[in-house]
Amino acid sequence: MTRIVHVNGQYLPEAEATVSIFDRGFLMADGVYEVTSVLGGKLIDFPGHAARLERSLAELDMTSPVTTDELLAIHRELVARNSITDGMVYLQITRGNPGDRDFAYPDPPVTPTIVLFTQSKPGLADNPAAKTGIKVVSIEDIRWGRRDIKTVQLLYPSIGKMMAKKAGADDAWMVEDGFVTEGTSNNAYIVKNGRIITRQLGTDILHGITRAAVLRFAAEAQMEIEERAFTIDEALAADEAFVTSASAFVMPVVQIDGAAVGDGRPGRVATRLREIYLDESRKAAL
Ligand code: PDD
Repeated sequence: MTRIVHVNGQYLPEAEATVSIFDRGFLMADGVYEVTSVLGGKLIDFPGHAARLERSLAELDMTSPVTTDELLAIHRELVARNSITDGMVYLQITRGNPGDRDFAYPDPPVTPTIVLFTQSKPGLADNPAAKTGIKVVSIEDIRWGRRDIKTVQLLYPSIGKMMAKKAGADDAWMVEDGFVTEGTSNNAYIVKNGRIITRQLGTDILHGITRAAVLRFAAEAQMEIEERAFTIDEALAADEAFVTSASAFVMPVVQIDGAAVGDGRPGRVATRLREIYLDESRKAAL
């Protein structure tokens, strides 16, 4: 089946979808994105992703070419047209095509470019890695200073992922000034004596939509939460570690830099939070 994608208001077979070589997303990484997961044909945490998209656009003085209702309709249309049961919808909005290369933003602004496509991942919520846990390595965080804006500048996270692969691990945790910021494409947590510890929000991490939901469910389940930075040494001395993201949900981390976290198996808190998150977010899915 040919994948149908959305480009600037049109639904097209993927091979017919094109964007200009002068698009600022291509030349300058001048664009923002969102990834929303799909379970049972429904969108998980859509309102959170739509709200963060608005914020990312506003931080970059960009406006959305579509309303939130239109965005929801496009997501649903793509899920239906591509018969997605489990998977993801990727959305990108760039500052558009000014017709030439120039560091300055086009003045007046040109129409933003909007692209959406689906990725089918049957059994996304039954990822076997959730049963075994993943291994991470620590690397230095050398990204820019506005990581709270979900831009398409993903070169360093890609390099980090390759560093992890080369070291025989699944992912990397980035460290700045001695403290873990986040994973290459997820938020990082440790658990010590039942208390969940994760870095506080700021400009140095992405404000994860899954993070917000998981912390809300944890609080509702009377779990203790501490929002503060932690070190790799503290993580190695913790009982558990895990990450959250729209594509991984809650994923246990069982090894850091080759050393076991806790007993080297997925912990009880991470496993429980994964269950709660999947149950509750499926109920609220659109
Ligand atoms: N990544 N931190 C970073 C650097 C991320 O790229 C992501 C998401 C997260 C988690 O955010 P959320 O819970 O809203 O997905 C944290 C997506 C999944 C990606 O790039 O594919």
